[in-house]
Amino acid sequence: MTILQSVTPSPLPNERSAWEKDRDHVLHPYTDFSSFTATGSQIIEKAEGMYVTDSTGRRLLDGIAGLWCVNIGHGRREMADAIARQVMDMDYYNPFGASANVPAAELGARLADLSPGNLNHVYYSCGGSTANDAAIRIVHFYFAMRGKPGKRKIISRNNAYHGATYVAAALTGIHGTKYGFAQVGEDFVHHISAADCYARPAGMTEEAYCDFLVGEFEMRIDQLGPQNVAAFIAEPIMGAGGVLVAPKGYHKRMQAVCRRHDILYIADEVVTAFGRLGEWFASDAIFETQPDILVSAKGITSGYIPLGATLISDEIYDVISRPQCEGGVFSMGLTYSGHPVACAAALTNIAIMEREKLLPHAAKTGAYFQLRAQSLLTHDIVGDVRGRGLMLGIDLVADKATKQALPACEKAAETIFRGCVERGVIVRPVGNRIILSPPLIVSEAECDTIISAISEAIAAFTASRCG
Ligand SMILES: Cc1ncc(COP(=O)(O)O)c(C=O)c1O
Repeated sequence: MTILQSVTPSPLPNERSAWEKDRDHVLHPYTDFSSFTATGSQIIEKAEGMYVTDSTGRRLLDGIAGLWCVNIGHGRREMADAIARQVMDMDYYNPFGASANVPAAELGARLADLSPGNLNHVYYSCGGSTANDAAIRIVHFYFAMRGKPGKRKIISRNNAYHGATYVAAALTGIHGTKYGFAQVGEDFVHHISAADCYARPAGMTEEAYCDFLVGEFEMRIDQLGPQNVAAFIAEPIMGAGGVLVAPKGYHKRMQAVCRRHDILYIADEVVTAFGRLGEWFASDAIFETQPDILVSAKGITSGYIPLGATLISDEIYDVISRPQCEGGVFSMGLTYSGHPVACAAALTNIAIMEREKLLPHAAKTGAYFQLRAQSLLTHDIVGDVRGRGLMLGIDLVADKATKQALPACEKAAETIFRGCVERGVIVRPVGNRIILSPPLIVSEAECDTIISAISEAIAAFTASRCG
């Protein structure tokens, strides 16, 4: 998160404060270092329930669940106990070969039960990026094992976010983020249009737009040659790309195209799983799709500790588990694959969600949140408000009729974000959008507080433009 305050008291005279040490030594993701070195960070020191407290003592309502992840809310003693207990029982041991641990095995079985269809096998990693990398390696290995090593190409979508390791970054369709880096994966990753209903051409129905998107996908497969295309990857609702909800029936139709061409369908549910849309997983329950591979992270432990999970179908498992050659092994290993402490945290996280019925709560409160947010459309600069469950995106525009974007130099989203913080609420500015994803424990009253803060901050920004 960007900076709000540059004053943190030093613990001792002559000793640098945490704020200074952070500024001097820590490389933050997605940060403009030119301004960061001047302003430093906002340091969050405490977190409890729906709230975080910064180093100046300011208490803020967390409208983004840390970063789409603290689904059960902050500071749960039960999570701390589960983590501590696992550290004392068995902190870590080698997961390679035939060495296992109890929490990883228990979690594997739980994930198989909770996930759609026959996604009965899990490859554990350390977060969403590594889980997506694993998915692509498994796809390539799978087709190689089927005697189709040329079937390697992955089709992703513009504006998609799949992570920051090199292959996950290649899958990502926010192309500006790739500047200055090697174009790893450009020989096998291809992008098609995002399903962005708000940006569709004026006068085009949602149905016709869906036809266009599916047609474009088919055309790209034709261009690349179906014999070369291995997988399609999509977030059920695009998250960082702007909370883009696809037209009705889109995912189902895209999957049907995949099936026709022996192309695997990868659902990146790093954000949408574990209750954010009121379900364990959104793919089948909401979008009627049955992925061949499902990628999860974030909400799987509610962010208390890092964990990624790549779930694969029985069919894929049957193929990749055959030895490549006499004595051959599945040579894809991470030291922390199935880390017992992370898996114990995930099991407790799932138990809390079940006991407190957080999924139905998120579905109900999410519906209220979406409805309440529609009131923001009364502002001249709010072009679109959309989402589902506890994922919300707000598009800021200069002109509602033409949907023309606000000039970047006005820093509208950033200014509105600051305005919200002044009102005690954290939101997330992304380009010309405001994005929200509160913890699943959010109440209707807290939804009101979030929307009111945004509304007031937008009004203040609009007034400053006119003035
Ligand atoms: C849909 C999606 N996939 C993958 C990732 C990458 O996850 P991580 O940052 O844990 O590597 C993210 C992160 O926000 C995400 O939103």
